[in-house]
Amino acid sequence: MPTTRLPGKKFTLTRQPNINARILEVLRSKSQTYISGEELSHKLDMSRTAVWKHVNVLRQLGYRIEAITSVGYKLVSSPSLLLPLEIKNGLHTERIGRNIHWEYEIESTNTLALQLAEEGAEEGTVVVSESQKHGRGRMGRNWISQPEAGIYLSVILRPSFVPIKAPCLTFISAIALVETFDQVLGLKAKIKWPNDVMIGGKKVAGVLTELRAEMERIHHVIIGIGANVNNTRFPKDLKGKATSLTLELKQKIPRITLVRALLEALEKWYFITQSDTPERTFERWRELSGTLGHYVEVNAGETIVKGMASHLGPNGSLYIQLDTGQEQEILAGDVTMVAKV
Ligand code: BTN
Repeated sequence: MPTTRLPGKKFTLTRQPNINARILEVLRSKSQTYISGEELSHKLDMSRTAVWKHVNVLRQLGYRIEAITSVGYKLVSSPSLLLPLEIKNGLHTERIGRNIHWEYEIESTNTLALQLAEEGAEEGTVVVSESQKHGRGRMGRNWISQPEAGIYLSVILRPSFVPIKAPCLTFISAIALVETFDQVLGLKAKIKWPNDVMIGGKKVAGVLTELRAEMERIHHVIIGIGANVNNTRFPKDLKGKATSLTLELKQKIPRITLVRALLEALEKWYFITQSDTPERTFERWRELSGTLGHYVEVNAGETIVKGMASHLGPNGSLYIQLDTGQEQEILAGDVTMVAKV
């Protein structure tokens, strides 16, 4: 199927009446046959001209809808873009993804999500894009965002708990990613502290969590998730360090199925952080960790620390047991597995 190029397109499902979704629903319910314009207009309670206009909007978004005079309409294929209409079709969440804001190309989904959050966007709003011009990574790095290949999305959360519990939110995204890859694709991934998702020692996904808070109150948290899905090439400096789901499985991966499962897993874990102790999240993180119990080198900005990654601190920090036997707490940094010499 030819891919649709829609640079400059923006689409927010909730800002439009839900007509496009309803048209697709009716067309999908009769996917083998044509449905007449009259039946569609009757079912949707709108004129045949209005049906025709909406069908054309859907076509512009990449839906192939055949129309035969005096016979009717038939949905032939749907775009492989992460359109709100597609993500919402079969999404089982209560809060995350009720509002989905999609753009073909964007500076950074986190930047737009931060702006929408400041403007009062409701909790659970998702910003998703097919490509980013300046995708942002942890520690001031870039996130390479090849068009239509990866998943680039940000979720706005407004948790009611105190900021000290915020590290849980970073951890739940990595947990949700690992559970999604396993559930949808049967792929076993591991988490590298704090929230890199790794397969065979190579990074497949990362999380950038940004938050606006006062001492006692979180205003909003933006969870930005980047995953290498159908990427087949990486820049030279990432050779041997990055992988993608398609490279691991040698097949094209349905991004929409992954996004739905990811939002569902994220919501499940978000609700757990609201109702349970941080320990419950840390326990799951430890089960999926590929860092604890390994000899590592941590680049913590000014210093490099080497030793055994021994355990998590109560706020999600990483404790390293140095060769001297002393323990050092790491609050932020980059972990690399190394051989003990
Ligand atoms: C990391 O360095 O591992 C974190 C990468 C996070 C990238 C994602 S892509 C979607 C969202 N928007 C951004 O600008 N960054 C995050």
